[in-house]
Amino acid sequence: MVFQGWNCYNNPRNENQNKKQEGYKMKRKLISALLATAMVASMVVVPVMADEETEAATRLPQKLLQKLLQKLLQKLLQKLQQKKNAEPVANPDLADKKVGVCIYQFSDNFMTLFRTELEDYLVKLGFSKENITIQDGQNDQATQSNQIDAFIADGVDVLIINPVNTSSAETITDKVVDAGIPLVYINREPGEDEEARWDENGWDVTYVGCDARQSGTFQGEEIAELENKGDADGDGVVRYIMVQGDPENVDAQYRTEKSVEALKAAGVEVEELTKQRGDWDQTKGQEITANALSQYGDKIDVVFCNNDAMALGALQAIEAAGRTVNKDIYLVGVDALVEVVENVMNDKMTGTVFNDYFGQAHTAADKALDFVNGKDVDNVYMVDYVKVTTENAGDILEMIK
Ligand code: BGC
Repeated sequence: MVFQGWNCYNNPRNENQNKKQEGYKMKRKLISALLATAMVASMVVVPVMADEETEAATRLPQKLLQKLLQKLLQKLLQKLQQKKNAEPVANPDLADKKVGVCIYQFSDNFMTLFRTELEDYLVKLGFSKENITIQDGQNDQATQSNQIDAFIADGVDVLIINPVNTSSAETITDKVVDAGIPLVYINREPGEDEEARWDENGWDVTYVGCDARQSGTFQGEEIAELENKGDADGDGVVRYIMVQGDPENVDAQYRTEKSVEALKAAGVEVEELTKQRGDWDQTKGQEITANALSQYGDKIDVVFCNNDAMALGALQAIEAAGRTVNKDIYLVGVDALVEVVENVMNDKMTGTVFNDYFGQAHTAADKALDFVNGKDVDNVYMVDYVKVTTENAGDILEMIK
């Protein structure tokens, strides 16, 4: 089966996906070639120069390299943009097929973008709007489980579920599979053991999401790539606070772990001042950061937030405390909400990571369609995250606005 989603992250768990990595590998080869060119250029020029000339000469290939990399990045973004705008061919036979969608909580701003795109794209594929029902789980597993029961009783043709608690995935899978309904999990990854069960039993169940490890790593790298590597007060240690999402969620776990790991991998000495759960919520992000600022004051160099909503809250607290992002403190989130990308462009936030809801929504809908058409579907599909910093925030904004 040919993968039809967007960029596919090189997930070691899914061997089939390795075959689908040609584009990804080509990009990496191109980047390596650019780096090699720049290295060769500097090696040729440097030995015959005096000190000042040497400096000027090394700056030259670096600038060239930067320009080439920027061009490359622009090309990649153009490709993303084209895929986002690509119109699928609508299938008239789908008009009477019923799709049930369960979202863990409508008030989550990232999931609002996701579900809007999902519904639009399902309609573009040929499902009729009246036959797509989207339910709000109100962040309560019991409520969501009742909604799933109702969808089963109604005999929907396919279910797309963003679970409230991933620990309930096994129970949910069992009852949906028993009812003979194919199932696409989105956004909250049920876990490797659960996914292995679908594979072993040959069930029509799949997960479409992103590998949260990648987003955490990108956050850490964004800080490590700063000139002072995030050491705002220059005392040799990067002290940070971690504002976590719901810790039951792998996105929260991996972002927390991998962001710090990436910073350490860049040779930075780090110290965690506090780590608290903000449940993906802006108000909680604001409260946690405000409290930490009054407790630790100028000691805080970096505020890591597992998502942008909490980072927006953190920004409010930082501004209220009279601190200035990118001057005496750094702040990163994940999602690339429009307001955050604008803030990154305007130097009010350090960076974020694009959580590609277009790619995830389209792949989820494509897989739902494949199930309805009786086609083979793999058990996991991963979509790439993209780093967002001042350099590419403008391009990202164009794509998401
Ligand atoms: C997003 C969060 C969102 C969460 C919901 C994460 O991938 O980054 O913004 O609240 O999913 O499960």
